[in-house]
Amino acid sequence: MPLIPDHIIQEVAEKNDIYELVSQYVSLKRTGSSYIGLCPFHNEKTPSFSVSPQKGIFHCFGCGEGGNSIGFYMKIENLSFYEAVKRMAEKANVELPKADSFDYHKSDQRRKERELIYEINQAAADKFYENLKNSKDAIAYFKGREIDGAWAKRYLLGYARDGWDDMFTHLKNKGYTESDILKAGLIVGNDSGKFYDRFRHRVMFPIFDERDNIIGFGGRVLNDDKPKYLNSPEGPVFSKGKNLFALNIAKRTRSDTVILVEGYMDVIALAMHGYTNAVATLGTAITPDQAKMLKKYFKEVVICYDSDGAGRTATEKAITIMRNAEVKASVMYLSGGKDPDEYIKKMGKDSFNTALKGRKTDITYLIEYFREKFDINIDGEKVAYIESLIPYLLLVTNPVELDVYVNKLSSITAVSPQALYSQLGIKKVSTPARAEKTAEIKRSQADTGRTKLDKAREGVIALILSDINLYAANKTALTEDMFGDGAAGEIFKYIKTLYDEGKRVDVNLMMASLSEEHIKTLSRILSIDTHISDEGKAMKDFIRIVNEEMRVAKIFDVLNSGSVEKLNEMIKKNN
Ligand code: CTP
Ligand code: MN
Repeated sequence: MPLIPDHIIQEVAEKNDIYELVSQYVSLKRTGSSYIGLCPFHNEKTPSFSVSPQKGIFHCFGCGEGGNSIGFYMKIENLSFYEAVKRMAEKANVELPKADSFDYHKSDQRRKERELIYEINQAAADKFYENLKNSKDAIAYFKGREIDGAWAKRYLLGYARDGWDDMFTHLKNKGYTESDILKAGLIVGNDSGKFYDRFRHRVMFPIFDERDNIIGFGGRVLNDDKPKYLNSPEGPVFSKGKNLFALNIAKRTRSDTVILVEGYMDVIALAMHGYTNAVATLGTAITPDQAKMLKKYFKEVVICYDSDGAGRTATEKAITIMRNAEVKASVMYLSGGKDPDEYIKKMGKDSFNTALKGRKTDITYLIEYFREKFDINIDGEKVAYIESLIPYLLLVTNPVELDVYVNKLSSITAVSPQALYSQLGIKKVSTPARAEKTAEIKRSQADTGRTKLDKAREGVIALILSDINLYAANKTALTEDMFGDGAAGEIFKYIKTLYDEGKRVDVNLMMASLSEEHIKTLSRILSIDTHISDEGKAMKDFIRIVNEEMRVAKIFDVLNSGSVEKLNEMIKKNN
């Protein structure tokens, strides 16, 4: 894999001091030999993000992100490895060899493709914005919705002119190729192979990703024509199910809550009234991916959908998605306007705030909303009412929380909590989805919660990295098998190869060769404090623990296999 020459990577990483770099984005406080601050890669209130200038690394104990200065720059600016090194080289006055004297990875090429599409989209958004300034119709449309110039600028709203090739010509004149403009989704081809603008005579809403790249557009008609909205097609950068409108803005509020609405206009109307912590899906139902994105930045998702039947149904779906993603969700129901946009303009901010304060937890909302749909004075309907809630109660994994809802339902229906529980129990056994889910949670917990074995392996690596002599002194005891085939195994192999050749390990070069997941493990290992009084003894202890843990794991494997032969064989060996 031909890459940027090693000495350049080392020089660039060393000359861009990690502390200097990170402090441009994060406010850092000194604690001993390192610094801590609020992690820029996930939302947190108490700092778990640490930077060690001595070791040249950062590591977040909250979300697990980590790496050196190049890795930090890549992540915070959303750059490819090559692009990050190039820009950092410029900053540090390091001369880079000519681009054609070396190649970069395929993945870097895909990144390049994405970066080009962002650039084309940005050029298009700028043009739409210019068009808006010159279009009486579009300005009047936005005015009619109380959006003035300042707000249009803030969201980079625009206007797609009525014509066939206004944007196409503009982008071609800027030097972009037909095929790249097509990839960005800004033109469409007809049967005879001619291309024309996708968006014509529509007001335009650029859609940004979490990192402020423009990934696509939504375009709305200025009247009642159909379709009301037209969105960019799915493509290399645009995916409706994996992005949220205005998440780039909402995440900056560092608010505990996020308000989830249906439409672009709802988001903007809420922002105009001071609620910049609002996001919208992109014309489809919310997905598990989107739920996970929200979980990264917020503690609670306040579902605030339209007040029509479709909005109610979408609310029920969203509750299920949020519960499955283990995201705390609540619901605010707005009577007095068809959607949040209309509501806040008609009823005002105070009224919206009262509704926000009075939001219900997801399940409380359902218990109360479904109650209106049934006449529980009729026995059959009472049973149907309870039945309709069972699937949702089954999503509640916390026993205390479940008890609160069961008791609430019991007092509404006068059915005993025991009966409700036993109804839940019956369903519990016969609902494979739930059993599967529990297994899934167990699995994911096993993945994140590191075992004693993991910790001991990482301890060994931390020690040999800090002192090659510790490696030399224990060389025969340190086998590749000891470290398994995960990140620790990869890292150990890398170190062993170099040490056995009598070379030293350069952390920056090692990071350049590891996958992103493995870099996280490495940065965690490097954050371990190896200044302990008896390193030699610690090393022996760690090695012993690794071997013991692996032996126990093997015994369990044999026991689980149920093979008497294997068991006998093992007993013989051990005697
Ligand atoms: N939407 C879409 N395609 C449509 C209609 C709607 O993609 N034909 C998406 C848009 O993202 C829109 C959201 O669904 O923002 C909500 O739809 P709707 O409530 O109809 O739109 P509003 O944003 O309320 O539109 P407006 O207030 O401008 O009428
Ligand atoms: Mn609307």
